Amino acid sequence: MRILGAARKLVSPSGPWLAGFGLVFIAQTLFLHGSSVRSSPQPIAFNHAKHIAGGLECTNCHAGARTEEHATIPPLATCMTCHESPVTSSPEEAKIRAFAAAGQEIPWQPVTHVPAHVYFSHRRHVAIARLECGACHGAMEKLTAPPRVPNRPIDMVTCIGCHQQKQARTDCNDCHR
Ligand code: HEC
Ligand code: HEC
Ligand code: HEC
Ligand code: HEC
Ligand code: HEC
Repeated sequence: MRILGAARKLVSPSGPWLAGFGLVFIAQTLFLHGSSVRSSPQPIAFNHAKHIAGGLECTNCHAGARTEEHATIPPLATCMTCHESPVTSSPEEAKIRAFAAAGQEIPWQPVTHVPAHVYFSHRRHVAIARLECGACHGAMEKLTAPPRVPNRPIDMVTCIGCHQQKQARTDCNDCHR
């Protein structure tokens, strides 16, 4: 990554004033690129609060969070285990069966993501560091509709803040691979 290479040169071997300049540069690029807003609504108005109140755990649906890099959004088949027949009169629920009848997966588009030049592994944080989902995502169990912006924003400052607090590594190359 060209920007990253330039930033690294600014931050690492030079004097403190150059490091300061590097940080301003980073702050500016984060301000420009660091947040995402949903451009179109999710295909179904999914309600986290109702499903958690019904006794489901986060990893029943986001199975990758303990074992993989990506937490993943559950496939249609997971929804259909409970929604093959109607359990409410909600038209949003009926959409699940319409996708199934059309033989299509539900095209979810989560807004919480890191850019391609950042390496992030759920398994490392959930299974090895034993962090709760809420430490990074906030109270997802309270959401009654899909978030339009990340429920809790995660940027480089958030990552490094926790790494410093927990004495995890903070080399540029750990996260930028
Ligand atoms: C603990 C993880 C972590 C470490 C360590 C880290 N970064 Fe980052 N960095 C991120 C994340 C996450 C983003 C994306 C943040 C965003 O866009 O919201 C990012 C974004 C950036 C960007 C902005 C790129 C763009 O597309 O706008 C630059 C430049 C950057 N980092 C440079 C560095 C440098 C230089 C270091 C070492 C001094 C470093 N980073 C260390 C996690 C990290
Ligand atoms: C383990 C069973 C189970 C699974 C798996 C499940 N649901 Fe549900 N869902 C329910 C139950 C039970 C209700 C009724 C809750 C209520 O009314 O309090 C419900 C309600 C709903 C509703 C109506 C909500 C409302 O606002 O009234 C929608 C939409 C919905 N589910 C979508 C989904 C989607 C999409 C998936 C897959 C990602 C899914 N559900 C997976 C059990 C499940
Ligand atoms: C019944 C399945 C189900 C359960 C249980 C569930 N989720 Fe989700 N989750 C979804 C679906 C479907 C989406 C995509 C729609 C949305 O954003 O509401 C999603 C989206 C997300 C997102 C990304 C939102 C975005 O766009 O940035 C996060 C983060 C998340 N869930 C965390 C959690 C956490 C934490 C828990 C436990 C407290 C949990 N989920 C429980 C089905 C589930
Ligand atoms: C240390 C912080 C952290 C913890 C802990 C964490 N997440 Fe995430 N989560 C992230 C980041 C960062 C992303 C964006 C990842 C990407 O773009 O690859 C994300 C993305 C997601 C998404 C969007 C879809 C996907 O696969 O990227 C879901 C769903 C999700 N997380 C669920 C969970 C659940 C459930 C837990 C707890 C079992 C959890 N997360 C724990 C930081 C965290
Ligand atoms: C709430 C605390 C917390 C947050 C937020 C967090 N991390 Fe971490 N991270 C940890 C801990 C603790 C470890 C050490 C885990 C272990 O024992 O291996 C770790 C380890 C890592 C590692 C492995 C480092 C190595 O040894 O090479 C990477 C890569 C990483 N985190 C990237 C990220 C990125 C990228 C973000 C932000 C998008 C982030 N982390 C946010 C707590 C956090």
